[in-house]
Amino acid sequence: MQVVVKSTADAAAEYVHALLEKQLTTFPDSVLGLPTGGTPVSVYARLIKGLQPSWKRATTFNLDEYIGLGPEHPASYATYMRKHLFDHVDCPAEQRHIPNGLAADIEAEADRYENAIRRSGGIDFLLLGLGTNAHIGFNEPGSDFRSRTRRVQLTPSTLDANARYFRPGERLPSQAITMGIGTMLEARKIVVMATGQSKADAVGRMFQDPPTIDVPGSALQLARDVLVVLDAASASHL
Ligand code: GLP
Repeated sequence: MQVVVKSTADAAAEYVHALLEKQLTTFPDSVLGLPTGGTPVSVYARLIKGLQPSWKRATTFNLDEYIGLGPEHPASYATYMRKHLFDHVDCPAEQRHIPNGLAADIEAEADRYENAIRRSGGIDFLLLGLGTNAHIGFNEPGSDFRSRTRRVQLTPSTLDANARYFRPGERLPSQAITMGIGTMLEARKIVVMATGQSKADAVGRMFQDPPTIDVPGSALQLARDVLVVLDAASASHL
C-alpha cells in the first residue's frame, strides 16, 4: 500500500479530487466504485464545481445501502449520492448503481448487484472511506476477505457513528447490503481516504501485519494497487 499524507483534510480532499478527475478525463468510460459518509463530501463538492469532467460514459457502483430505506429516505445512500453528486453531473441514471435496500429478496438483490459489477467489466477505480472500527463499505470486523456483495448486520459502534444522519429518536436500520471485501479486492485501483483524529486508530490498524479479519481495512494489503490518502491527524498513529 502506498501512503500520501497531506497536512489538512482539505488538502487530502484536493488530492483525491485530482485523482478522480484524472481518471475520468483519461478514461471517460471508467467503472467507478463510490463511497458515502462524511469523508468524501468535500471530494464530491470539488468534482461538481466549475469545469467538471464528463460522467456521460462513466458507470458507478456505490458500496452499500441500508436495508429498509428507500431511495427517497433522507438518510439513504441513494439520497446522499443525488444530493452530493448525481444531481450535479451528467452521468445517465441507468449507468448509476446503488443496492436496493427495499428489495423483497435481499439475497437476490445482492447477487444481481454482484453480477452487474461483473458484467460492467469490473471496477477500474474504487474510492473507499474507513469506519472508526476500520470497516470498508459496511464490511464490519469479522467479514471474510473473500466475501461478495451480501446482507450484513451493523455493529453498535457503526450505528452510533452514523446516528447523526438520522432524525433524533429515529430507529436506525440494523442491516445493510454491502459490496464484499472480495469484490473490492478485484478493483484495478483502490484509493482509501481517511481524515481526522477519530480515524487514527483505524488507520494504524489497517497497516497491521499480517492482515486480520478483525480489521477489515487490513485486507487492502492484499490488493494489487492501493493508495491511502490521509491528513496529518488520521496519520498520527503510523
Ligand atoms: C459508513 C459507510 C462507509 C464509510 C464510513 C465512514 O459506515 N458505509 O462506506 O466509509 O461510514 O464514514 P465517515 O466518512 O462519515 O467517517
